[in-house]
Amino acid sequence: MYYYTWDYRAPASSIADLEKAINGEYSAIACYERLAGAAPSEEERTQIMEIRKDEIRHYQTFAGLYTSLTGRQPAPVINEPCPSVYRDGLHFAFKDEQNTVDFYHEAADRASDPAVKQAFLRAAADEQNHAVWFLYFLTKQQARE
Ligand SMILES: [Fe+2]
Ligand SMILES: [Fe+2]
Repeated sequence: MYYYTWDYRAPASSIADLEKAINGEYSAIACYERLAGAAPSEEERTQIMEIRKDEIRHYQTFAGLYTSLTGRQPAPVINEPCPSVYRDGLHFAFKDEQNTVDFYHEAADRASDPAVKQAFLRAAADEQNHAVWFLYFLTKQQARE
């Protein structure tokens, strides 16, 4: 009988990519709660909380893959706290989403496990959508100031 264990399926690069993604999602969940609290309209607050729900879903997906591949629970850390001023927070979030799209595409290319590859590709599409929302809010905020 052939045992197909995680050692074969998970090269170190994908584990490192999942760790980085888990920290990024964890940081975004905290950041967007703060950003939603600072939003000047109900529409923006609601949309940012919708985005935050996506990040929670991404976090759960990546954490589940990490646990199934390593046998360990992730220990997430906030990699970079987001600015407290709303406009600066939007700018930070826009750039972070754009950078995350690139990183997830690279991580998908590196992944040999199809489930890991698909998780990165699906999340990349969501992050691209988030980036557009933050750019829209940034444009609206600049018009207010
Ligand atoms: Fe995400
Ligand atoms: Fe996002």
